[in-house]
Amino acid sequence: MKSDQSIIKKADEWAVSVWQKALTRWSVRSGQDKSYRWHVAHPAVVDIMSKRRHNRGLRILDLGCGDGIILDDPKFRELIGDDGAYLGVDVSDKLLEIARDRLTDENISFIRGNLSDPDIARRIIEKGIAWDVLLSVYVIQELPDIESFIMNLAKLVQTSAYVIIVTVHPDFAGWLKQTGSLKLEENLTSSNEQETSSWRWAGYYPIVDEPNDTFSLPHFHRTVGDYRSLLGKSGFVVDKILELPDKQRDLPQLVKQGFSPFSQFENNVYWPRIGEEPSALAIISRKETVSGQE
Ligand SMILES: C[S@@+](CC[C@H](N)C(=O)[O-])C[C@H]1O[C@@H](n2cnc3c(N)ncnc32)[C@H](O)[C@@H]1O
Repeated sequence: MKSDQSIIKKADEWAVSVWQKALTRWSVRSGQDKSYRWHVAHPAVVDIMSKRRHNRGLRILDLGCGDGIILDDPKFRELIGDDGAYLGVDVSDKLLEIARDRLTDENISFIRGNLSDPDIARRIIEKGIAWDVLLSVYVIQELPDIESFIMNLAKLVQTSAYVIIVTVHPDFAGWLKQTGSLKLEENLTSSNEQETSSWRWAGYYPIVDEPNDTFSLPHFHRTVGDYRSLLGKSGFVVDKILELPDKQRDLPQLVKQGFSPFSQFENNVYWPRIGEEPSALAIISRKETVSGQE
């Protein structure tokens, strides 16, 4: 894949326009999206964090924090405690306004900015906090300029820290595309996947919001191999890639207990695959160290 600034600019404008349409729906979403976080994404992230050496006083940098939803989960609050810190970064004024209105603890703060802008790293570094975890939940697939985002990560991550990126499973998005539920944005999709830019194809990722109609968010498609190679190019080592929900352990329970969207209902364009295969990835990585240097 190669980068081309004019197509990235066009893609950025398109992504902003898709978000403009989605914003009202996203900010009042309920049903499946929140349920997915509660039962799948957040437990997986808490588990990863709890297994690392920091159990209390965690300093979390949340890149693409949206309305600060992770802080609604008491488990994250517990990990941060009184001694830790949380900084949420997002490009959306509206979502940050919702976050700031609800989340007013002294050790919680927010910055508005574009994650692919080289200046955002400087503004975060100015805060003077050594982050333990750089977290990004369902954001990377929305960024046309992923290379600049990863370069920012490289500036922000210290050798003792780690990065957790949660994103849509590429195979799941591929299946949605195949079934016609994920519409392509033809202007940003080349017939030769390698040539477009820093993504293979772009389209409208459907968000099912039971019992309402679906709405869409921007999606720039990359494979697991693309993520590995992009991270590798910026000096990261990928420790682990988890498929979520775990197919043997968690998925059958979610289906059995009928949690939305792991159940069949009108407008659930994810069904039946959502109940059969993992639909998200958690990529855990850290900065590569030259042996002997910390
Ligand atoms: C699908 S939402 C996920 C939000 C949040 N992490 C969550 O789990 O609910 C994607 C978020 O990425 C933000 N975003 C998209 N492109 C961005 C960019 N270039 N810079 C900063 N934030 C961006 C959006 O405003 C939105 O809040």
